[in-house]
Amino acid sequence: MSRRKKKKHLSKLLFIVLIFILGFFAYQNLFKNNIIEVIKQEYNIYSKIDGYNKELLSRYKSYNSLFPNLEIEDIVKGVNLDLDKYNLEFDDNINNFSKDTYYKKDNIDRYLAYQDDNNELDHHEIIRRVNSNLDKEFYVDYVNTDLSKGLLMIANKFYYLGDYEPDDLITIPSEYGGNSLKASEITVNAYINMYNAIKEETNLKLKVNSAYRSYQRQKTLYNDYVNRNGIEWADKWSAKPGFSEHQTGLALDITTSSATFDNFEDTEAYDWLVDNCYKYGFILRYPSDDYYLTGYNFESWHFRYVGVDVATKIYNEKITFEEYYEYYVK
Ligand code: DAL
Ligand code: ZN
Repeated sequence: MSRRKKKKHLSKLLFIVLIFILGFFAYQNLFKNNIIEVIKQEYNIYSKIDGYNKELLSRYKSYNSLFPNLEIEDIVKGVNLDLDKYNLEFDDNINNFSKDTYYKKDNIDRYLAYQDDNNELDHHEIIRRVNSNLDKEFYVDYVNTDLSKGLLMIANKFYYLGDYEPDDLITIPSEYGGNSLKASEITVNAYINMYNAIKEETNLKLKVNSAYRSYQRQKTLYNDYVNRNGIEWADKWSAKPGFSEHQTGLALDITTSSATFDNFEDTEAYDWLVDNCYKYGFILRYPSDDYYLTGYNFESWHFRYVGVDVATKIYNEKITFEEYYEYYVK
């Protein structure tokens, strides 16, 4: 072989070796970057469906084998709603629940159970009630209040304060109808602003009838109610000790000096408070229409401080604090 031919062979050989080396690295790289996996994921039957989430691919597959008759759209919707966690088959009924603003994925089995027992209620009403824990038993299925929520801590028949005492109680000044009662400092300051505003606009003077109540004070009050009118009546109007919002220092029972608890709802002051209290950070805690969600009767006088932003949201959305807490805070 001539030298020229040898050289040509050698460069051909080198070229082939080079291609092999490059090919080898390229192949390794494909796997390293999971490109093949990515391609496999992107081109599957679920990927064209609205709401498809590639992280959930293996769950779509198992849900599909669990319910092989479901349309692919419904497989994606069902897994996106976590129905696979409850072994529930996606259907129109669940679809209707899921469209509600306050639908909580974790509550689906409770919505369905409540619906079984309360067939006459629509989806929205079932969601409101279950989110307010009305599928549970008052004073039986309760937990400790999460005090770390601060101004948004909740006390009701499902949340227990124990012997909690606020550390920022101050006396409501007598010139603001304070009756020597105490409440948390932020509540008192907001109340004073509200007192000044209603006086300015209508010349009405508010009065506080009850504010902070200790565990012991609530115990005496509750027992008095029971002795006077029986336990059933007492439970509609008064919290058992440890369960009252008054123990948080954030609740005030407000009327005017000319009104009683019974007729306060017919007064101009009540109308003004209902329309304006949110501007000062208060909510009407046991409202006339939705009182049953709170576990108590309608109380036209009981206002709770939650801060202006939250009060405005609750006012605009026309929901109770129970619903707000379960949906936005918990
Ligand atoms: N009256 C309200 C519900 C309370 O006792 O806290
Ligand atoms: Zn009250």
